[in-house]
Amino acid sequence: MNPRRVPVELDPVRPQDSGPLTVTLDGEEVTGQAGQTVAGILLGAGRVSWRTSRNGRPRGVFCGIGVCFDCLVTVNDLPDVRACQRRAQEGDVITTGVQDG
Ligand code: FES
Repeated sequence: MNPRRVPVELDPVRPQDSGPLTVTLDGEEVTGQAGQTVAGILLGAGRVSWRTSRNGRPRGVFCGIGVCFDCLVTVNDLPDVRACQRRAQEGDVITTGVQDG
């Protein structure tokens, strides 16, 4: 079978439940797309950094693959969530501003 001819409903890579979702980001409602990571929603909302290091340097997405831990956020009261690794869910409450230890 030619991989370029896989019908979309059989494609295991494409999300079948795509569509808009709404999360709360630092108290404000933000819209994203199902399947986006929390980092994707933050970037889509125009946030390129959302926390600071001990000496005040901005931090956000650096590696994007779960290695550097620069993208930490709190999701639904769970601290230290890597935004680049967590897929956003409808109704998530995301808070930022964690200080690097
Ligand atoms: S950006 Fe590096 S762990 Fe998320």
